[in-house]
Amino acid sequence: MQKEVVVSGIRPTGFLHLGNYFGAMRNYVRMQDEFDCYFFVANWHSLTTHPDTKELQNSVYRVIAENIACGLDPDKVALYVQSDIPEIAELYLYLNMLAYKGELEKTVTFKEKARAQPDNINAGLLTYPVLQAADIIIQRAVKVPVGKDQEQHLEMARNFAERFNYRYGDILPLPYAFNYGDELIKIMGLDGMGKMSKSENQQSTIYLADEDDAIRKKIMKAKTDQGPATPNSEKPDYIQNLFTLMKLVSNVEAVAKFEFDFNASSTGNCVIRYGDMKKQLAEDMVQFITPIREKANAILGDKDLLHKLMKQGADKGRSRAAETLKMVRNAVGLNY
Ligand code: TRP
Repeated sequence: MQKEVVVSGIRPTGFLHLGNYFGAMRNYVRMQDEFDCYFFVANWHSLTTHPDTKELQNSVYRVIAENIACGLDPDKVALYVQSDIPEIAELYLYLNMLAYKGELEKTVTFKEKARAQPDNINAGLLTYPVLQAADIIIQRAVKVPVGKDQEQHLEMARNFAERFNYRYGDILPLPYAFNYGDELIKIMGLDGMGKMSKSENQQSTIYLADEDDAIRKKIMKAKTDQGPATPNSEKPDYIQNLFTLMKLVSNVEAVAKFEFDFNASSTGNCVIRYGDMKKQLAEDMVQFITPIREKANAILGDKDLLHKLMKQGADKGRSRAAETLKMVRNAVGLNY
């Protein structure tokens, strides 16, 4: 039986962190056996914010290496860089003819970006969702593993595909956002102020590239308080976040012990020792991250291997993309 096709893109805007790992990469790894997967680094999308050239280049290499280090198998999935698939750019051109200025201006992410960079509201920023639709449609994907913030883009991709089908004949499958049934894990920064981030609040974000001592230092500085006022209290979100992290990297006994201590604590009788909890979490986190960091660094240090893997991914990505583009050109009447 043909496996369903999955596409997802990762923006190369900085170092990957625990939020990326548990929110996205772990799902990619889980999907690679079940589906026909195309994962790529969205470097064209990054150009909408005019990043530093050298940084963008390094970031692309790093994202590829870290994804492999996290368990994506380049022999099972197609792992490529967006700009290595010129077919995407051509499909973007056709889809742009089906995307309306009004709907693009109404997109939430566009409005946010326009507010954030009022001096650089370029056409690429406006048509960001069209390029994203091209990424997806070029592989004729039906499932797209993305977070909540991307659902509007997915809806737009479906609309563009539907408009294309209506005008030119039914050839494009409609893509849907996909996640495994269990809830999406949200990882907050260690300062308790919002999500872990690729570029902001670096002291409270744990990166897959962090050295052991940096991991320990960040976790030991994580926000806590003087302990719960009554037994079985509800946990403040920064404490819940430490438990969430512990559940992801520590063994069940450790988690159970600190849960028990938390629930037994009250004012004047603080059983839970956050210092001990953080020490345990720090050591388990180091155990978790070290092999990933080392594998990523080994790949990054071997540029021949890295280029070979990128070429392998691009070849796989291009072969299906070329099929789609041929169908699209035929449908539009561009086959002379
Ligand atoms: N816009 C996505 C994000 O910000 C990245 C992305 C680009 C993407 N193209 C895609 C995601 C195609 C899924 C499918 O995270």
